Amino acid sequence: MQDGRTTLSKFLIDTLDRQPASVSAPGLSALLIDVAASIKTISGALTKGALGGNYGAAQSVNTHGEEQQKLDLMTNEIFLQHCEWDGLLAGMVSEEMDEVYAIPETYPRGDYLLAFDPLDGSSNIDINGVVGSIFSVTRVRDDQRDAPVTESAFLRPGNEQVAAGYAIYGPSTMLVLSVGTGTHGFTLEREVGNFVLTHSDIRIPEDTGEFAINASNERFWEPPVRRYVQECKAGRSGCRARDFNTRWIASMVAEVHRILMRGGVFMYPRDFKTPAMEGRLRLLYEASPMSFLVEQAGGQSITGRERILDVVPARLHQRVPVILGSRNEVARIGRYHDEYDRGEDKPFSSPLFNERSLFLPETPA
Ligand code: AHG
Ligand code: MN
Ligand code: MN
Repeated sequence: MQDGRTTLSKFLIDTLDRQPASVSAPGLSALLIDVAASIKTISGALTKGALGGNYGAAQSVNTHGEEQQKLDLMTNEIFLQHCEWDGLLAGMVSEEMDEVYAIPETYPRGDYLLAFDPLDGSSNIDINGVVGSIFSVTRVRDDQRDAPVTESAFLRPGNEQVAAGYAIYGPSTMLVLSVGTGTHGFTLEREVGNFVLTHSDIRIPEDTGEFAINASNERFWEPPVRRYVQECKAGRSGCRARDFNTRWIASMVAEVHRILMRGGVFMYPRDFKTPAMEGRLRLLYEASPMSFLVEQAGGQSITGRERILDVVPARLHQRVPVILGSRNEVARIGRYHDEYDRGEDKPFSSPLFNERSLFLPETPA
């Protein structure tokens, strides 16, 4: 670029299209440009706020039994319209559609699959808070290429994603993306409509003093998560010997973005509030793409007991526990799950034993 800036198109052409045939992903850059077009359209609509006439409930529920907002449906439609025509996709799934959306026969069919959450954190809409969109791209397997696209085509582990990303609609709109070569952030230059690379090769600090969890669910958590949070809350006088800070924005996009920018841990763990649910977040279009971005930025993402990218989905709208962020903290929480499952963390099952000042002898200086 003459002005030295890297637009999204330049980045994608350099990273994907000018690669040897063996590593190239034909058409992926064009597909991602269409996804970016969806995001620009959504950003424009959200910026209008209440003046856009799209606030309020849609009088319908999605497959999770959640009341849909008009904006949930509108943003879903924007993704479909921008991405269905280009001949690169075989099908799409979304939080707001019960079934697989097969590409209409009027358009050519490609062999990529797109899973998306068109509007993440939609409870923030009414308060003019931060929301986002999340997407994940995989490829139809060779043996399914000629078959009609059904649910089974999408039931692949996240480690098979060829691209993943999110948009964050905050004071500025950003697209954060990975095609497997690190995690990169682009800021929307609204006046000209370009996404410009502003955050190249984002790295998550390995250590952190910040964690995010919806503490109102504490009584439903499993012991290893309680142990971790209690230790953090004990702060400088506890066994961690440092103070921690908490955050909760109620939008996974906003939490992950903060973690990519300055580190931290985000948890929506398994809990016993609704045991059948396993977790709150959806594997295909929330947990999997975010785990891809976090790992590509040097962080970790686990259910507590396994790497999220290795979880093989059993259903389109499957939920999964999520613990992600700074690698040393996530590893610690994974270890707490392991110790709990082996019955090795007995002395820690009481919060009192986590307080150095209460029952544990002071370590000599
Ligand atoms: P969505 O708006 O797409 O349904 O997702 C909301 C999700 C996630 O983004 C967020 O972390 C979590 O739900 C918030 O949950 P609480 O309602 O427990 O705060
Ligand atoms: Mn969501
Ligand atoms: Mn959503």
